Amino acid sequence: MSNNKQYVKIDDEKSTFHVSRSAFVEESVWKDEYEKIFDKCWLYLGHESEVKKKGDFVTRTVANRNIILTRDAKGNLNALLNTCPHRGATVCRESSGNKKNFQCFYHGWVFGCDGKLKNQPGSESYGSDFNEDGQSDLAHVPKFDVYAGFCFISFDPDIIPLPDYLAGAKDYLDLISNHSESGMGIVDGSQEYAIRANWKLLVENSIDGYHAVTTHASYLDYLMNTNGGLTDVALEGSSYDLGNGHAVLEYSAPWGRPVAQWIPLFGEEGKKEMQGIYDRLVELHGEERAQRIANKNRNLLIFPNLVINDIMAVTVRTFYPAEPGYMLVNGWALAPNEETEWARKYRLYNFLEFLGPGGFATPDDVEALEACQTGYRNFKLVEWNDISKGMGLETPSYDDELQMRVFWSQWNKYMSEDA
Ligand code: FES
Ligand code: FE
Repeated sequence: MSNNKQYVKIDDEKSTFHVSRSAFVEESVWKDEYEKIFDKCWLYLGHESEVKKKGDFVTRTVANRNIILTRDAKGNLNALLNTCPHRGATVCRESSGNKKNFQCFYHGWVFGCDGKLKNQPGSESYGSDFNEDGQSDLAHVPKFDVYAGFCFISFDPDIIPLPDYLAGAKDYLDLISNHSESGMGIVDGSQEYAIRANWKLLVENSIDGYHAVTTHASYLDYLMNTNGGLTDVALEGSSYDLGNGHAVLEYSAPWGRPVAQWIPLFGEEGKKEMQGIYDRLVELHGEERAQRIANKNRNLLIFPNLVINDIMAVTVRTFYPAEPGYMLVNGWALAPNEETEWARKYRLYNFLEFLGPGGFATPDDVEALEACQTGYRNFKLVEWNDISKGMGLETPSYDDELQMRVFWSQWNKYMSEDA
């Protein structure tokens, strides 16, 4: 790290793991994170279901870069930098749609969905071999790849291949895409909000099984007081290190899951339908995997900032720091491409009820994260965060802090390297 400061302190003998609060507040850390982490990792761009047809596109900001994800006339996916090769203007200014061409509004250059320059006003004023080298096409992001429908990009041309990078997280992406044989797709619309806290607080929170019972007491109370909102399934499970900074909690819980844990609230109609879904999962994947898909919840972190929560609905979430103490969050619902109206309604209700910015969970979490960030104003006097829970245990529980140690160890590794 540029200032050689120690941000992570590990004592294996005493089973303690500490993180310096200055990592959440220092400007130099925030700047280094863009160079040493976001420029060096595979980052989530979108899901292939968002660009199903030829000409479909979505625009995204990923690590401060404007990107267009397109499906071109040949059906191939492209991740293009959304800046005109002529003199820089943003070429596509819509968030999604379907187009044959993209025309830059400044001087009118026209590009295909594969990024190739097709024509430009006054083309007779250019040499006959203009753009022979492709320099005036929209530039592709240096690396682009797709795993189980999830599209990733990297700004590092020398990065390891995506499947190697994903390591043990691949199994979990497979498991989530196995929810339905019709495939999984992003539901139209997104949740976009900001939190006055450092982005790493949301990394920790997204895979924190320790806080549920206290922070979300009102949600659990609400379910308990809703007729048939909970079963007697115990909240229990484990956390796993998936390699390369990725981690997951996998656990059973008393709430309902549209795939396919029934609760009395779903009624008899729901029971029949869920049994059908479950039987089909057994046929396709065998009893053991079907059990896991249907009844286990998963909070998955793919380093550095992709979170997939497979809980009472499936959500995909990513977030970037605009400042050390301020982050911008984007969330989407992932659902089977084909499911009954009843199941879709229930799923979306859960997406809003628990995870939405006006729901039962996110506002509580936002409050907790902002309270931590406020607490870090004292970082010079009270310097260290403790994330030692379960450190000496052979099999850490879902409510231990192994997954955060996995993240922080990887963070420290990247940040200690010279850019
Ligand atoms: Fe796009 Fe000139 S900047 S055409
Ligand atoms: Fe929470």
